[in-house]
Amino acid sequence: MSKLDELKTELKNLGKRYAELKTLPDSEKKAFGEKINQEKTELLRKIAIEEEKLETENIEPIDLSAPFGINKPNNATNKGSFHPLSRELELVAKIYANMGFDVIESRQLDDEFHMFESLNFPKDHPARDGYDTFRTEEGFIPPAHTSTMQYRALTRFKNKLENGENIAVVIPGRVFRNEDVDATHEHTFYQCEGIYVSKTATLGQLLGTWKNFFETYYGQKLNIKTQPGYFPFTEPSLEFLIEKPKSLGGKGDGWLEMGGCGMIHPNVLKIAGINPSIYKGFAFGGGIDRLVMLKYGITDVRYFESGKLEFLKEF
Ligand code: FA5
Repeated sequence: MSKLDELKTELKNLGKRYAELKTLPDSEKKAFGEKINQEKTELLRKIAIEEEKLETENIEPIDLSAPFGINKPNNATNKGSFHPLSRELELVAKIYANMGFDVIESRQLDDEFHMFESLNFPKDHPARDGYDTFRTEEGFIPPAHTSTMQYRALTRFKNKLENGENIAVVIPGRVFRNEDVDATHEHTFYQCEGIYVSKTATLGQLLGTWKNFFETYYGQKLNIKTQPGYFPFTEPSLEFLIEKPKSLGGKGDGWLEMGGCGMIHPNVLKIAGINPSIYKGFAFGGGIDRLVMLKYGITDVRYFESGKLEFLKEF
């Protein structure tokens, strides 16, 4: 048996040990779960190393002249499945849709106006550097956050306000940042933006809406708190935190920052052609990768983009 096969068998056996969790007294569950998660992370790391070795050692040249029968039946035994982030993004969108939000898609290439000007970032303001943006040679920007969609959502739906309705929209999307990667920071990750505008929107509604979303997603009541933040496109700006639930490994004292939020800055409404002395709005933007990591006890955000089958097959 190769070293890789041995490691994979070990991983399979470890998976079976999760079932033991149910049989343990509550006081032992947490330590047991943590131990298994640690062992799993270590095994996945070793498997990744072995796979990489194999990939680079045994690359056979492709026979480009070999016949290819396009009409032959597909004998593949493993047909694949949805990526966990795609699946969870669908779920996130469904929860917001049930709460009355429209869902629109973001884009993967954007420009200076949507990334900065429309969001009230003054020219040459240091806050622009905080977003570690990539740029193409032509000057386009792969969005560093889904807030680049705020102007588009506001202008697209502002006729609703004129008809006496409110704007309620969420925008899930892939975002990119030129930053050092580690277990909780990726260069490519997902966010979901939320925007609500009415004549009477309040900060209380914002916090209630987001709390409701997180409680539905995790299927349990949660403690939340906020701390001051800074975003040029909201005033006031807040960081939104939830207390890590005990059922997900929390010890009763761990607060996790889930995203940024605040009341939409009057300048952002003005730029989109909405009168800020009549209408008020709130916006929020949360990271999807970290949301999913907490749900499944995933210890390293880099697994999502790694393309490692051992990881993907877990879902
Ligand atoms: C923003 O991106 C703001 N656009 C959020 C916002 C929206 C504020 C609307 C106000 C109104 P921030 O940079 O904090 O904020 O990122 C939000 C979330 O994205 C973080 O809480 C985190 O969950 C996730 N995130 C940020 N950087 C990374 C990264 N490198 N890897 C994985 N997730 C990340």
